[in-house]
Amino acid sequence: MSNIDPKKLPKHVAIIMDGNGRWAKERGMTRVMGHQQGAEAVRTIVRTSREIGIQWLTLYAFSEENWKRPKNEILALMKLLKHFLKSELKEMQENGIQLRTIGRTDKLPKDTRKVLLDTIGKTASNQNMVLTLALSYGGRQELLDTIQKITRKVENGIITSIDISEKLVSDFLYTSDMPDPDLLIRTSGEYRISNFLLWQIAYSEIYVTNTLWPDFDKNEYLAAILDFQRRERRFGAANSKGVGS
Ligand code: FPP
Repeated sequence: MSNIDPKKLPKHVAIIMDGNGRWAKERGMTRVMGHQQGAEAVRTIVRTSREIGIQWLTLYAFSEENWKRPKNEILALMKLLKHFLKSELKEMQENGIQLRTIGRTDKLPKDTRKVLLDTIGKTASNQNMVLTLALSYGGRQELLDTIQKITRKVENGIITSIDISEKLVSDFLYTSDMPDPDLLIRTSGEYRISNFLLWQIAYSEIYVTNTLWPDFDKNEYLAAILDFQRRERRFGAANSKGVGS
């Protein structure tokens, strides 16, 4: 923590939490046990984010593709999510954490949705940090939903095609009032985006670690942030030496 520069913090950190299954397999445990340990890592990372002053944290908790997993694993993940929300509410309130979701959450089981909506409602006025859970989320699906919303505006004569700018598209994404992620972290050593925030990560710094998600602890997280702070972000422009990227 000591080496982190509070003036150069990423405003928005997004995380692809991967490797629960492998973590469990290495220990002869069930995949569900890996997810349970993964939920503990979520607690640690949310707490650390708040401690160091991250304002936006977005976690890929359940992708559109995850619906293809065995039914018992899906049910266990939904149950874990419910349990997590109930057990974390007090801490979210004490620390001013606002909960949001992105994704087609209408597909989630009714009881999970109920706890989600309840937590979103109760934390809505919290101002210190926004924790967004991507649930039943897919980047392409988000873009499709966005294109459909914009097309309806055009069809209804509210806007014309020349009004469609980057700003307008951003305004119709699920993340409309959020800044784009500055730092995207992926655990478990895979160099893939896996359909996460496709539009929003255009200029994000990417950090991949071999650590499996349940082992991603405070020190690992601080190392990722320190790595981010050592980078020079140019957003496509040239640096002081005239070198572009
Ligand atoms: C990837 O591990 C992780 C997920 C499918 C979802 C992430 C879920 C959690 C961290 C648990 C609970 C979440 C919350 C918000 C309480 P994997 O199963 O794909 O791992 P593998 O690639 O090793 O099989």
